[in-house]
Amino acid sequence: MKSPHEYIVFPLDLPRYRDAMHYVEILKDRVGLFKVGLELFISEGPRILEAIREAGGAGIFLDLKLHDIPATVCRALSACARYGPELVTVHCDGGVRTLETIASNCPQGVKILGVTVLTSLGPDALAEMGYEDRYARDVSSLVLLKAGMARKAGFHGVVCSGLEVEAVKRATGKDFIAVTPGIRPAWSLVEGDDQERIVTPAHAVRRGADYLVIGRPIRDASDPADAAARVADEIATAL
Ligand code: C5P
Repeated sequence: MKSPHEYIVFPLDLPRYRDAMHYVEILKDRVGLFKVGLELFISEGPRILEAIREAGGAGIFLDLKLHDIPATVCRALSACARYGPELVTVHCDGGVRTLETIASNCPQGVKILGVTVLTSLGPDALAEMGYEDRYARDVSSLVLLKAGMARKAGFHGVVCSGLEVEAVKRATGKDFIAVTPGIRPAWSLVEGDDQERIVTPAHAVRRGADYLVIGRPIRDASDPADAAARVADEIATAL
């Protein structure tokens, strides 16, 4: 069974190697995974992944949100696998056949998560993109549709909000991984917060989330290690 702190994913939303490694050193035994996104990966390249691996402790969630023809995504996944990430993200927008090809060529040891619907997309944007009203006006039904496609294709899980995680787990099964961003502990105060559909760590794990992406509440705390420990305590109580 996972320890409570292993549920925590800390996003290294920083452009520089030195700043990212500062948080890696502080948090490597306090969180389960470090999430490396486009900004840090493009700025610093694979050496940041090697450094996280060498630091020990937490693993790597490589959040590059791949989206291309199957052959290109498969080759990119093989390149990712050299650095030993536990999780990688691929957009679900390629359709089931594409997702199946990607899943069946998934390198050993890597788990693929589907990105369902970006939280920056609302009903108007989805309608403009051609989605029928029943999906454009009800984003959670679109998330469920895409999670079902990812499951059917053989992906290992999806990224979804804490408000959708219960329905996603019900539809896809206990073993299908749900990673939820938009987590805000009751004590956290994020200045100018841009996350709207937020839930607490306890709420997310009670509804079945397997990993919680928690950035600013930990990063901006006066003592980030202590903030991560408090989140882990809340998760332990909720499990
Ligand atoms: O906790 P905080 O809001 O600071 O976390 C920000 C992180 O959550 C970013 O790395 C962002 O990419 C990620 N995120 C996500 N999916 C969303 C919203 C945010 O992966 N729908």
